[in-house]
Amino acid sequence: MADKNQLTPKHIAIIMDGNGRWAKQRHQPRFMGHRAGVKSVEKIVKYCFEKQIFVLSLFAFSSENWRRPTKEVSLLMELFALVLKQQVKHLDKNNVRLKVIGDISKFSSSLQKQITDGQNTTKNNTGLTLNIAANYGGQWDITRSVQNLASKVKLGELIPEQITEDLISSGLTTAELPDPDLFIRTGGEQRVSNFMLWQMAYTEFYFTDTLWPDFDEESLDLAIESFTHRERRFGKTSEQLEDSKND
Ligand code: IPE
Ligand code: IPE
Ligand code: MG
Repeated sequence: MADKNQLTPKHIAIIMDGNGRWAKQRHQPRFMGHRAGVKSVEKIVKYCFEKQIFVLSLFAFSSENWRRPTKEVSLLMELFALVLKQQVKHLDKNNVRLKVIGDISKFSSSLQKQITDGQNTTKNNTGLTLNIAANYGGQWDITRSVQNLASKVKLGELIPEQITEDLISSGLTTAELPDPDLFIRTGGEQRVSNFMLWQMAYTEFYFTDTLWPDFDEESLDLAIESFTHRERRFGKTSEQLEDSKND
């Protein structure tokens, strides 16, 4: 029998898509979909810490989402600030560590302060790491790491031959986290939309038509269930995996 990975994923990364369509179906403004989406976030975060998932990464705002109508962007920023204000204490109480990845320098100074404070308050927590990608782009993340290495080369601290995959990884925003085991995208689109490109080199992908505001504990269980039946070969053959299991 093929070697099945029965383990629960350590790191789950989600593109929470479909808020706008959820609202449209109800003849409501798109923003109502984002508000409903926050309820799903709360549910899924709670469920992940109960299930002892190590890292939950959520794509909240991409570096491309600035292209949306100004009104929607500013409402999203307000919602982000409100959620931080309401939730940081609660996360802290539940031993959740908040981490935000992305170029937060483009946010208002008050939102930047909330993000920094939220991370500081929760930094010693040892339960779930809630990793929020905000103004994040996978290409930005890789570019930034490579730029830092290029500066070191320029200063003579490094020679180009010393640039390895590990070195590039260690300069990414996620350096201290394991790579995602399971990637979920809700809302029916089957693309990565510039999420954690480098980190997802060997991640298992799961797509569902469920719109994010409708995604609940049961939906997450289905995704995890699908993951447990995948055979993660990392380039090897099935037979090799069987053999190493019997060692
Ligand atoms: C995802 O939902 C949330 C964000 C990008 C902030 P969308 O707003 O993309 O919803 P759809 O794809 O238009 O339905
Ligand atoms: C991806 O969703 C980003 C987030 C969920 C934050 P989009 O809805 O922005 O992605 P595209 O534009 O359909 O690829
Ligand atoms: Mg979308």
